[in-house]
Amino acid sequence: MSRQNLFMISACDSTTVARSWVSVLVVGLALLLGGCDAPQAEFTLNLPFLHSKNVSAPRDQEIANILAALFGTPDEPYLMSAGEIDHRDIVDPVSLKLSAGPVSRDEFGTARGLYREHCVHCHGISGNGAGPTAAFLNPYPRDFRKGQFKFKSTPSGVKPTHDDLKAILVNGIAGTAMPSFAAALSGPEIDALVDYVKYLTIRGQVERSLCISVEELEDGDAFDLAAIMEEAVAPALEAWKIADQQVLAIPPRPDDFDTVESLRRGREFYFGVGGCVKCHGDTQLGDGVLTDYDDWTKDYKDWGNLPVTTPEQVKEKKQFEETYYSLGGLPLRNIKPRNLRHGIYRGGRRPIDIYRRVRNGIEGSPMPAAAMRPPGAGPEVPGLTESDLWDIVNYVRHLPYEPMSRPRAEEPLNDRPPR
Ligand code: HEC
Ligand code: HEC
Repeated sequence: MSRQNLFMISACDSTTVARSWVSVLVVGLALLLGGCDAPQAEFTLNLPFLHSKNVSAPRDQEIANILAALFGTPDEPYLMSAGEIDHRDIVDPVSLKLSAGPVSRDEFGTARGLYREHCVHCHGISGNGAGPTAAFLNPYPRDFRKGQFKFKSTPSGVKPTHDDLKAILVNGIAGTAMPSFAAALSGPEIDALVDYVKYLTIRGQVERSLCISVEELEDGDAFDLAAIMEEAVAPALEAWKIADQQVLAIPPRPDDFDTVESLRRGREFYFGVGGCVKCHGDTQLGDGVLTDYDDWTKDYKDWGNLPVTTPEQVKEKKQFEETYYSLGGLPLRNIKPRNLRHGIYRGGRRPIDIYRRVRNGIEGSPMPAAAMRPPGAGPEVPGLTESDLWDIVNYVRHLPYEPMSRPRAEEPLNDRPPR
């Protein structure tokens, strides 16, 4: 069995055969009651991350034990309060009941195991974004354990709001494999799954903190559980709590939003102070910078980017790659700037959606937040104003509708402006 598949250890698997008579009894009973088709799910450790932080036995087992104590198992997940934060304010325990566990129905016919029914084949049991379907998809499904989300109403570094995640589940993510669940799931089911995503995120971020903190421990030192609660669990809960207060306020569109003047200004900003041309390219086909990586890949990109000039280096790189893949890592890929001629916007196609993307950037991707002019500064200070952003939005939305090859009578608006 590969390490990646460790989560699918079934009670019928001979490798888990019990060693004491108590466990023989328990396994026997489970087989009697559940039969062989009720697999036991387990969270996998974040092995590539562990490895990249040089965490080895017995620390990896200690981390697995702490995570199990703090967060339970995929069949019986739970959260604990930490610091000032009541865990029930972040994730409703009922949501965990509905989302977790095997796919089933309770005595009232309510669906259980929603995550395993609808999400696991892409996002994986531990939310690692590496379910069985993942390797075939581009972009890969989100790895929730890093705690970063792309399409939201809050700035980079801040969690999405509950409603942002709900919108993702309702609408899906256009141009990617992430489907819309509007027809498949009820409102309360979507709420429950959003909570479950938060749970997986909190668990995953605590796991990362534990891996990072191993470096500070002397050999033989034990993890300090009180410090973990205070320094890892409490901030992970807190981050979700404060997201709602940090939603970007969107100013109203200026009166001349849909005019040719606004388009012209937008184009100036695209090629000028906005800096968009660097990545999205002269022709807006998204071919400016093709060699960058997203933050999920950047955790491991040095493995992908090792110099290969000497035979030793070639060998070293190969070894790194083999280890990374044997630990369940997905092939490293570059992230490409969007082709703005397609008119497919993952974060939504409404003008306010594009405004948010340009204003706040896309977290975890190279797409930066707009360089804004400080409030109150005069036009001599470089940077964009809120109304400049609306011009850029207008320009972006215009791009798919003017074919580049059309014979033109006059200077097309989506070309490079004369220098
Ligand atoms: C067929 C594969 C697939 C399934 C099934 C799927 N997803 Fe996704 N999901 C994706 C992909 C691919 C992305 C990444 C899109 C991107 O990076 O632009 C994603 C991204 C996400 C995001 C991140 C959004 C953001 O703003 O960063 C969330 C949250 C999410 N999925 C939740 C879920 C939940 C909950 C379910 C089950 C109800 C689910 N997904 C089912 C493929 C899938
Ligand atoms: C450093 C490179 C970089 C710069 C500069 C940049 N972008 Fe992007 N942009 C990207 C990348 C990469 C993506 C794809 C991100 C993803 O899907 O994860 C993207 C995506 C987008 C999208 C798609 C949003 C969606 O919902 O799908 C739009 C629109 C966009 N950029 C507009 C702009 C504009 C306008 C500017 C200038 C103000 C700009 N970008 C500057 C790299 C860049």
